[in-house]
Amino acid sequence: MDKLVINGGKKLSGEVTVSGSKNAALPIFVSTILAPGLNTIGNVPFLRDINTTIKVLESLGAAVEGNGHVVKIDTANVNSVEATYDLVKTMRASVLVLGPLLARHGRARVSLPGGCAIGARPIDQHLMGLKALGADIHLTHGYVEAKARKLHGARINFDMPTVGGTEHLMMTAALATGETIIENAAREPEIVDLANILNKMGARIEGAGTDTIRIEGVKEMSPVCYEVMPDRIEAGTFMIAAAITGGDVKLRNMKPEHLDALVFKLLDAGVEITNKDSVLRVRCPRRPTAVNIKTRPYPGFPTDMQAQFMALMCVADGASVITENIFENRFMHVSELMRFGADITVEGNSATIKGVKKLSGAPVMATDLRASASLILAGLAADATTEVSRIYHLDRGYESIEKKLAALGADIQRVKE
Ligand code: EPU
Repeated sequence: MDKLVINGGKKLSGEVTVSGSKNAALPIFVSTILAPGLNTIGNVPFLRDINTTIKVLESLGAAVEGNGHVVKIDTANVNSVEATYDLVKTMRASVLVLGPLLARHGRARVSLPGGCAIGARPIDQHLMGLKALGADIHLTHGYVEAKARKLHGARINFDMPTVGGTEHLMMTAALATGETIIENAAREPEIVDLANILNKMGARIEGAGTDTIRIEGVKEMSPVCYEVMPDRIEAGTFMIAAAITGGDVKLRNMKPEHLDALVFKLLDAGVEITNKDSVLRVRCPRRPTAVNIKTRPYPGFPTDMQAQFMALMCVADGASVITENIFENRFMHVSELMRFGADITVEGNSATIKGVKKLSGAPVMATDLRASASLILAGLAADATTEVSRIYHLDRGYESIEKKLAALGADIQRVKE
């Protein structure tokens, strides 16, 4: 197993190019099931979760060829309708193949994803929506078995704005007969990206990015070439890397408008951010000041940036309160951050962080993807040496993070444990 060794205290400077978005690429790959033939997807990040998605598609009969950041997916022969536990347990998003397989073949059998380090993460809303579209659903032996002779449009009102649920039903309804309206839909940019590729394939979707999405079902969809949007969470992580090291970093290939909530909070904390021709420059000449955040569905502050922001607040001047509203167990990084000397107390879903002047490097363990990122950020700011182990979580969602940080002047190395 690999670990990262960081000698902290270096101010980051220079330019970094943001990779394609993991959370947009995963459903986009799945959407190719709906468009039989050769789809070409560009700006794909090199990540373990992408490889897992490729394995899922191959297990269904797709032929996949990767060439750098361009991946060709031929879904003409997607004839299997089963996604097994082995694949779904390594990546929950695999469950998104259920609806598209059902829409294409009239039946599907997909393992139920289990719990997850950050919360229970049920898929009841996905299943409720599929039933509304006419699917007959049974849970047996840990699998969801779905059948439908014909899917039809329906009005769906989510209990909460779920990203995966919105994506799942948008894809499935694209090939149903008649109109589907999704109310209380999630509004994340990744949903807009998915709607864009689906519309390019021939779907008729309106309102993606708002809380009401209308889908007029079409009979068939055709393969396309499409570029994945930039990863807003990777971009946000590098913005905090610049801020926490007192650095000066320019970010390329990103959409600053996707990060408004984070930008406002960083400005509030005294970080200097300028946007010229979509290149974002982040500077932090002084110690940041403490600010409070509450995670919310988009356009609110993203839960996927909460752990990284907490790392920054650990060295801020003053006390801040961070409230996690999306996942019930997303404070696993707290006890690891405290190993750096951070002063954090947790009560319910709120953490109070009293900033300290300096963190001290320590051996720590990553527990999930974004927690891993927060530990790296703390290590970059800490004195002496930090070792982050269990970084396989990191490889799921950050492309070559240690190489990108090293190019900005960080002293960071991947070593075998
Ligand atoms: N929820 C339900 N029932 C459902 C669906 C969701 O109760 O049927 C709950 C969840 O348990 C959670 C909340 O609703 O409490 C929001 O979950 P959502 O469905 O929006 O999350 P997701 O689709 O499973 C995606 C991202 C996550 C990100 C969340 C929230 C992907 C592949 N994953 O998950 O990304 O945290 O949206 O923005 O897009 C990450 O990249 O590190 C990551 C965890």
